[in-house]
Amino acid sequence: MKTLAFLSQKGGSGKTTLAVHTAVAVHESGERVAIVDTDIQKSATIWGNARHEDAPIIATAAAADLAEVLKAARQDNMTFVIVDTAPHAAPDAARIAKAVDLVAIPCRPTAFDLAAVGSAVEIVKAAKARGVFVLSACPFRSPEIAEARAMLADYGLPLAPVEITDRRAFARAVATGRAVTEFDSAGMSPSDVN
Ligand SMILES: Nc1ncnc2c1ncn2[C@@H]1O[C@H](COP(=O)(O)OP(=O)(O)OP(=O)(O)O)[C@@H](O)[C@H]1O
Ligand SMILES: [Mg+2]
Repeated sequence: MKTLAFLSQKGGSGKTTLAVHTAVAVHESGERVAIVDTDIQKSATIWGNARHEDAPIIATAAAADLAEVLKAARQDNMTFVIVDTAPHAAPDAARIAKAVDLVAIPCRPTAFDLAAVGSAVEIVKAAKARGVFVLSACPFRSPEIAEARAMLADYGLPLAPVEITDRRAFARAVATGRAVTEFDSAGMSPSDVN
C-alpha cells in the first residue's frame, strides 16, 4: 500500500485540491484509494459528502490516529492512501511525515508561499521522510513559475516537473464533490476551463 501526504504550513496552498484530484486520478488508474482527512476544517470530508461516487473512500481522523487508520486501510486491501493535512505545524505534521512514503509540499509561486515553505521542508527533513515540491495554482505561463522553481531548488528537495495551473475549474470541481477530470466535456462551459 502506497501512502502520500500533502503537507504545508501555508493555508490555501492547494493541499486539499491536490489531495482529492490525486485520489480521483489514482482511483481511475485502478487503485483502491482512501483519503485520510486529518484537518479539523474537514475540507476533503466535505468534498466526499458532496460526491455522488463511492470512491475514493474518505476517513476523517486525528493525526494521532493515523497509524491505526493506515493499518485498517491495509487490512481493507486499500492500495493507495492519500493524507490531507491541516495548515499548522508540529506535532501532527511531523507524525504524518514519518508515517507516509512521500510528502508532497504544494507551493503557489508567490512570495508569501515561498517564504513559508521552509517550515514544511524542516518537518520533512527532521522526519527523514521523502519530500517533493509541487507548484500549485500557477498563473498560465507566467515568469513567476521559473522564479519559484529557482528558489525551491535551493531547499534540496526534488520539484515535480509539471506545475498545476490556476484554473477556476479546480475550485468548481471541488465545490461540487468532483475532480476536473469528471466534468462532462460536452457540457463544459468556457468559464469552467478559464
Ligand atoms: N489549481 C488551482 N486553480 C484554481 N484554484 C485553486 C487551485 N488550487 C487551489 N485553488 C483554490 O485555492 C483555495 C485553497 O485551496 P485548498 O483548499 O486546496 O488549499 P489548502 O492548502 O488545502 O488550504 P488549507 O490550508 O486551508 O487546508 C481554494 O479556494 C481552492 O479552490
Ligand atoms: Mg485543506
